[in-house]
Amino acid sequence: MSERLDPRAKEIYKRLWRYVSPHKGFGVLAVISMIAAAGTEATLVALLKPLTDEGLVEQSLQAVETIAIGFVVAFIVRGLSGFGTEYALGWIGRRVISDLRRDVFRKFLTLPSRFIETHATGPMMSRMTYHVEMVAESVTTVVTVMVRDLLTIFAAMGLMLWFSPRLFIFVMVLMPIIAILIQLLGKAFRRYSGRIQDSIGEVTQVTEEVLRGNRVVKNFGGYEYEMDRLTKVDEWNRKQNLKLIRVRSLGVAVTQVIFGFGVATVVYAAGAESSDGNLTTGGFIAFFSAMMLMLQPLRRVTNINAILQRGIAAGDSLFQIIDEPDEVDSGEHVAEVISGTVEFRNVCFSYNNDKSPVLSDVSFAVEPGTSIAIVGHSGSGKSTLISLLPRFYDVNSGHILLDGMPVSEYKLDNLRANISLVSQDIVLFNDTIENNLAYGQLRRKSRAEILQAAEAAHVMDFVRDLPDGFETVVGDRGILLSGGQRQRIAIGRAILKNSPVLILDEATSSLDTRSERRIQEALDHLMQDRTTLVIAHRLSTVEKADQIIVLDEGRIVESGSHHQLLDTDGLYAALYRLQFSDELSGK
Ligand SMILES: Nc1ncnc2c1ncn2[C@@H]1O[C@H](COP(=O)(O)OP(=O)(O)OP(=O)(O)O)[C@@H](O)[C@H]1O
Ligand SMILES: [Mg+2]
Repeated sequence: MSERLDPRAKEIYKRLWRYVSPHKGFGVLAVISMIAAAGTEATLVALLKPLTDEGLVEQSLQAVETIAIGFVVAFIVRGLSGFGTEYALGWIGRRVISDLRRDVFRKFLTLPSRFIETHATGPMMSRMTYHVEMVAESVTTVVTVMVRDLLTIFAAMGLMLWFSPRLFIFVMVLMPIIAILIQLLGKAFRRYSGRIQDSIGEVTQVTEEVLRGNRVVKNFGGYEYEMDRLTKVDEWNRKQNLKLIRVRSLGVAVTQVIFGFGVATVVYAAGAESSDGNLTTGGFIAFFSAMMLMLQPLRRVTNINAILQRGIAAGDSLFQIIDEPDEVDSGEHVAEVISGTVEFRNVCFSYNNDKSPVLSDVSFAVEPGTSIAIVGHSGSGKSTLISLLPRFYDVNSGHILLDGMPVSEYKLDNLRANISLVSQDIVLFNDTIENNLAYGQLRRKSRAEILQAAEAAHVMDFVRDLPDGFETVVGDRGILLSGGQRQRIAIGRAILKNSPVLILDEATSSLDTRSERRIQEALDHLMQDRTTLVIAHRLSTVEKADQIIVLDEGRIVESGSHHQLLDTDGLYAALYRLQFSDELSGK
């Protein structure tokens, strides 16, 4: 089979094999079972000759008895070997699925943010569900066919040769014709399989978006639009599947027709043989049964290329993900304690090299334990700026230093352990409030610390009213909580993390003035001995910062303290006046 695969497919196949090969115990069990299965199939056919010739034609009762016992034994062995094959291959298949799934998932955890953000989730999700199943199915089916079916075919051929060498030659002439057909059909299979797998990803994508965005869909009446989207991808999926079915069943049909001609020829030749006295009735029946025994396995062998190709197409898309480079984590530096000096030196950054830079020549320094506020219009690059510090992205040029050491020289884990981030879009997991608070490394914190953080972030205020309290499950992305409640959990997380550098990106934007004031107190307390970078929509939060920088289209246009900036009467003063008048008018 392998000589029909192109080198790339061969490579993928070899790699897939590495997922299967460690499970030798079950592999041996499967092979033994399959040998036994093929053996019993052949035995059953072989028994037909004495049954007919001795039992039926010569009417020997003793022969019938012996043969009957033979049948019983053969069926017992067949049942056992069938079970053994299914179970052993099933075991290996499920193992392969788990291993592949975990490898892909592990990669998802460490892929650079850029990669994840520029790839749609649907196709990534289908890797975890559809593709891994395809691979395992393909591997186990291929193994079954290669061992059990090929053995059955050989055994059948052996029987045929034994019963009638001349007739056997007739049958063998047909084989190469079938082999050529298999080759012709193989190419088409792989094309359609790849397309089907891609379209599964698109179906997942659309479905997921509709479920997540169900309120938008309802509010804006997006029913028809979404239905159209799904119909389109689903239709494509259906058509590709149909093409695959067509090619596959055509393959089967053509093989069968050829087989039919073969059978006719054999029957004709058998007639001649038997009238020459070379073939007994039993011999003829057994020969014919052996030929029929070949039919099913032969069909599966014809199909094996489709299955193999499907597995290779699925494996290919899995390995493409697995081979993606991880986040760059080449830094060696591990800091025990950090004092928290943050410095940006002439930092330039763009998400996409073709586009204009998002940050240009940004420089500032924050002393340990002091705070800096970043102010600017929407889209001016504030969130981008802070995302560079924990290295979600790397700078294009310039340097970001933490305690005088470039962030790229820290080990990623160590760098991130020293930075707490409350981001603009809060991410909660479908888990309990407690687990959302004490997420990841914070699991190690004591119950008392968790409660303290929850208290400080005013999470307890609403947890007390919940029937399940801390054990309340927050729903997909925290959908069952209010925006402000979610924000408080995120703040609680940061408080619990207790790291020397704190980043707050619109951390209190969803809170009303009263709650904000209270949480602000908690945050003020938290900010006391830490370096804080704060982005706030409400300038009242900003006023208290030790220094303020104003970003405009990715450049720092002003910097200084609140009063200095008001005196400068530039962009900051304008923003401040605008908000002041909003607040006066009751907004
Ligand atoms: N992940 C991303 N990939 C590509 N471009 C991005 C990404 N995130 C933001 N941008 C672009 O970078 C620019 C700055 O975005 P950023 O989120 O930093 O603005 P911001 O100042 O935080 O705005 P806001 O006040 O609305 O939160 C925008 O033009 C945006 O389109
Ligand atoms: Mg932002």
